[in-house]
Amino acid sequence: MSKKLFIETLGCAMNVRDSEHMVAELHALEGYELTDQAGEADLILINTCSVREKPVHKLFSELGVFNKLKKPDAKIGVCGCTASHLGKEIIKRAPYVNFVLGARNVSKIAQVLHKDKAVEIEIDYDESQFAFKDFRTSAHKAYINISIGCDKQCTFCIVPKTRGDEISIPSELIVAEARRAVENGAKEVFLLGQNVNNYGRRFSGEHEKVNFTELLRRVSALEGVERIRFTSPHPLHMDDEFIEEFARNPKICKSMHMPLQSGSTDILKAMKRGYTKEWFLNRAAKLREMVPNVSISTDIIVAFPGESEEDFAQTMEVLNAVRFEQVFSFKYSPRPLTEAEQFTDEIDSEIGSERLRLLQSRHDEILDELKLEHQGKIVEVYFEELRSDGYVAGRSDNNVGVKVKGSEELLGTIAKVKITEAHRTVAYGEIVA
Ligand code: SAH
Ligand code: F3S
Repeated sequence: MSKKLFIETLGCAMNVRDSEHMVAELHALEGYELTDQAGEADLILINTCSVREKPVHKLFSELGVFNKLKKPDAKIGVCGCTASHLGKEIIKRAPYVNFVLGARNVSKIAQVLHKDKAVEIEIDYDESQFAFKDFRTSAHKAYINISIGCDKQCTFCIVPKTRGDEISIPSELIVAEARRAVENGAKEVFLLGQNVNNYGRRFSGEHEKVNFTELLRRVSALEGVERIRFTSPHPLHMDDEFIEEFARNPKICKSMHMPLQSGSTDILKAMKRGYTKEWFLNRAAKLREMVPNVSISTDIIVAFPGESEEDFAQTMEVLNAVRFEQVFSFKYSPRPLTEAEQFTDEIDSEIGSERLRLLQSRHDEILDELKLEHQGKIVEVYFEELRSDGYVAGRSDNNVGVKVKGSEELLGTIAKVKITEAHRTVAYGEIVA
């Protein structure tokens, strides 16, 4: 009987891809097959996130649960960003953990498995040219990493300390991976990095100068690639060339993530984001002007140290001006190893919660207005998921989650859908052609 692997993935899309890489390595080199029952597994992996404090707390209670329900000889490994920043501390607090593998050491998974109490968390380890074995959770959508690490030093963010400096993956490896994915049936390629439009600043060896815009052109030149998505770009690097390629290239889905963080130029400065409120508004306006059906999503942090009522009002102003189609909003959470952790002008937690509530309720109003605009529209949907309620779900080019009545044969197809019933986060429709 084959050995069984249970893996839980927290956090961002890069973690999802890192998990796929670990599943692939463990299958090819060690014969593991996936299970969704932790109690049946011979190996339990948790791929962790450390961007905010909550998931870190959750980790230790979860580890306790896994330790109780696991088979007697099963191993437990902690991977990802919390592994990078807590390292051997994890084994101290939870001595039954067999190994700890950092977010930048994914390629060592089959090695640490055989070294009890191994802690591999080097953040200058360069795996940008490692050829991972193939495994994808979705047959339709292919996640592809284009860089590792992050070169920015946003003062609130722990990621540069868990994933290390930024190194771009050579473009020919990315193009080859995209080619393999479409040969295996995927129509959509999803390019991933902490800062995708900074692509090409640094390769670990000699490499032709290829920036993100050029990479987009090369991937879109592949026959069989019908859709390209990417996350996350940085507003600072949204130059005209990039926005124009985004507008012009029909294979690029018209959905852009523009992480604002704050609408106040003073707070942006304290966060070391490198742009102003005006620059952000200018880039968003250019996008809306060049791509009328674009959907813009964002990340916002409220109650960053020193955020005054006036600063928060500026954030609300940007929210009202850009009218984002999607907002991921968070209350500031101080993180170890970051500059902002030392800032002393913290905002009272209740004020933070109230700002978050105000922001989210204003955004719900915007969504209620936007959904009326979706009603009756015809959008192109790529169907990816069969639901148990008789619906097939997919995403429109501009990122609306759309469901139609249908069955399996719709999976992996792209069709025009008329939206008959739009809600805040999902729309129902009928295929028109
Ligand atoms: N470059 C990455 C950012 C990863 S963190 C990306 O764009 O995906 C994802 C989001 O978490 C950030 O954009 C930010 O809004 C939020 N975040 C990061 N650190 C945080 C902190 N200390 N407190 C609250 N939210 C934070
Ligand atoms: Fe974090 Fe800023 Fe990089 S949010 S991942 S340091 S771009």
